[in-house]
Amino acid sequence: MKVGVIGGGQLGRMLAIAGTPLGMQFTFLDPAEYACAAALGEHLHADYSSPEHLQQLAQSVDLVTFEFESVPAETVAYLEQFVPVYPSANALRIARDRWFEKSMFKDLGIPTTEFADVLSQADLEAAVSQIGLPAVLKTRTLGYDGKGQKVLREAADVVDAFAYLGNVPCILEGFVAFSGEVSLVAVRGRDGEVQCYPLVHNIHNDGILHLSVASDAHTLQALAQDYASRVLQELDYVGVLAFEFFEVDGGLKANEIAPRVHNSGHWTIEGSECSQFENHLRAVAGLPLGSTASVEHSAMLNFIGSVPEASKVLSIADCHLHDYSKAAKAGRKVGHATLRSATPERLQQQIVALEGLLNV
Ligand SMILES: Nc1ncnc2c1ncn2[C@@H]1O[C@H](COP(=O)(O)OP(=O)(O)OP(=O)(O)O)[C@@H](O)[C@H]1O
Ligand SMILES: [Mg+2]
Repeated sequence: MKVGVIGGGQLGRMLAIAGTPLGMQFTFLDPAEYACAAALGEHLHADYSSPEHLQQLAQSVDLVTFEFESVPAETVAYLEQFVPVYPSANALRIARDRWFEKSMFKDLGIPTTEFADVLSQADLEAAVSQIGLPAVLKTRTLGYDGKGQKVLREAADVVDAFAYLGNVPCILEGFVAFSGEVSLVAVRGRDGEVQCYPLVHNIHNDGILHLSVASDAHTLQALAQDYASRVLQELDYVGVLAFEFFEVDGGLKANEIAPRVHNSGHWTIEGSECSQFENHLRAVAGLPLGSTASVEHSAMLNFIGSVPEASKVLSIADCHLHDYSKAAKAGRKVGHATLRSATPERLQQQIVALEGLLNV
């Protein structure tokens, strides 16, 4: 089976690593000159909105999926005319826009923080008087790794905040004083079957994911699965979807969804019976889903900017290195490592050892 992937970054690369044993071949559409997924398949080096290249992609593959959702909905709608695309153009249209996404949560009865649509500085000022401060102003589309957002703490922060984010459509969100952040990676097959991985605790540094620790029978697992199932059904979703939540007062508030495999699910490569990457491909290909059961206790640590020396990373027991072969650059995700352990206590020791290798 030939799979076309929109985007050729590390998520595409890990999809190809998972799909190759299933007999799949990959073509990555990515405008970047160097795409780290290209080592695992063909690289169609073209713009996401070039009709000629979209057609070329559609004609050379059996289906198309995404590792990068910030493409215009029209691009996906265009592709859908020629080839099956999973998840659908409609699912992408909603998931890539924070206003549509949060409005959907509200419609489905999923708790989320107060929010308002902001199309001008005047809208922002009206939204601030309604929601209050502190609040977070975010661009509706194209944000990632905490980019495209500004925390507004006092009145002075509001002045020019809309221009600071580029005078583009935004959303204002009430600031959530969360006790923790968790995410749920879920997968839905073409036949509607849903499977979920255990909830993951996430720790961010400077808006970028630093550490994910898979939980063991989290008390909010059933609630998170209920919320995710509502969204998956509403969008008639096919593939992996990640759901980010804030933990507040013993409950969950929805932050955002990502219509693709997710950084907080990388641990599943070694930590689960069937990884998020394989399960995404099984789902989009119409194959039976694999087990989301955990093998042991797992955690994943991102390498931001540069990858520590492999010999040092691998000197930690049960540590699995993923180097994306990307050029080192401050703030860029260039690799990760998964730690596995029979006990949570030992896992904690491994995390401390791995963190000790960062920035040395
Ligand atoms: N309303 C909020 N209140 C408090 N903290 C927030 C709020 N929104 C976002 N944050 C913090 O900023 C982080 C990044 O925000 P968000 O997930 O919306 O953006 P993103 O750029 O899409 O991030 P990523 O690509 O890492 O998922 C969150 O994980 C959380 O730590
Ligand atoms: Mg996020």
